[in-house]
Amino acid sequence: NTMDLRQIKISDEDFGVLGYDPGFLNTASCKSRITYIDGDKGILRYRGYPIEQLAEKSSFLETGYLLIKGELPDKERLAEWTYNIRNHTMTHSNIIKFMDGFRYDAHPMGILVGTVGALSTFYSDAKDINSEESRKLQVRRLIGKIPTLAAMSFRHSLGFPYVLPDNELSYTANFLSMMFKMTEHHYEPNPILEHALDVLFILHADHEQNCSTNAVRAVGSSGVDPYTAIAAGCAALYGPLHGGANEAVIHMLLKIGSIDKIPDFIKSVKEGEGRLMGFGHRVYKNYDPRAKIIKDIAFQVFEETGRSPLLDIALELERIALEDEYFINRKLYPNVDFYSGLIYQAMGFPLDMFPVLFAIGRIPGWLAQWTEHVKDSEQKIARPRQIYLGEAERNFVPIDLRP
Ligand code: ACO
Repeated sequence: NTMDLRQIKISDEDFGVLGYDPGFLNTASCKSRITYIDGDKGILRYRGYPIEQLAEKSSFLETGYLLIKGELPDKERLAEWTYNIRNHTMTHSNIIKFMDGFRYDAHPMGILVGTVGALSTFYSDAKDINSEESRKLQVRRLIGKIPTLAAMSFRHSLGFPYVLPDNELSYTANFLSMMFKMTEHHYEPNPILEHALDVLFILHADHEQNCSTNAVRAVGSSGVDPYTAIAAGCAALYGPLHGGANEAVIHMLLKIGSIDKIPDFIKSVKEGEGRLMGFGHRVYKNYDPRAKIIKDIAFQVFEETGRSPLLDIALELERIALEDEYFINRKLYPNVDFYSGLIYQAMGFPLDMFPVLFAIGRIPGWLAQWTEHVKDSEQKIARPRQIYLGEAERNFVPIDLRP
């Protein structure tokens, strides 16, 4: 009520109502020209282009260019952009020492948060955030180096030697090579799996003011370099409510175990004993457009890798849920995470790499949003207010006199 809203300022000079909006459900923190979502209609567009068209016709690097620069590139610009990013895939050799310092069982997402943040100490020119040239350079470095750090974190956990980037390969093929190459010989990934992962990266590339993007903007608003701001995005993505839902879907499917157990599971969800993971979304009150595309990709991937029994459980679970009044009335549809984990698992990624894959895909979005924020003259340091509910002023009591 109004009294709650006005508790901070109740003097005559009170400027008026202070919004109280936990979780920012009704607060726009910025004006943006990057991503458009209509949650009721199930629409997602990057710079005006429907996600379905980008998934079908674009590549991850081209979509990254679009997000960051605002327009699709011509052939020459795309070639230059690709060349520049491929030439920034190596990391300083001290990063390897840093990587080696992590415990053998360190979570790869924790490693990513640490190493992305550490990059800031290697590039002192990154502090110059108001220089367009410097910003461009850091953008290329970050997009180039994230897959290298991600693959290193995976191989560190296995105790395998790191694989150097192969800049003859495409961006996504190079990442797969750094992950899975086991011999000295040239590594060529399965083109269907390479394409599927590239499309998954496109689908994750931006999603307006989600938790991690908000973190990038908020930390970036202090004027810090982009490596540190992006490390904050990685940190936000590490949380189970944001980057961890697709892993939770796998655990749920494993727990259900077989198709005949689905009705009992649905019944328990309806009785409030847990949620149907990979279903529902804060913004989409319709089928998540990314989930539709991912479902098609899942079939393509399983054609190559062999069908996981979990896919059949997922399909039946979706079919039953979409016909059930509980889910219909609450507008609960599959979201991006319902099938993505199954695809990653079929490709050979362990569960703890799932949020890392999300981070690789999200990097152009974070960078586009960070760049837009830095250039936005209306922006200030992110500094919300609070509604203070603590004690009024009181006098300090010496420890011997305390009750
Ligand atoms: N399974 C069962 N019931 C659900 C689910 C679900 N997955 N999601 C929402 N509900 C129910 C709630 O119990 C509530 O029912 P009620 O009105 O009877 O109390 C109603 O639907 C509304 O739910 P809210 O929690 O208010 O919806 P909100 O928009 O806050 O939550 C969220 C969205 C967090 C995504 C939720 O749907 C959820 O927990 N889903 C499962 C986790 C998941 O898949 N997360 C990934 C999101 S996509 C991403 O992060 C990339």
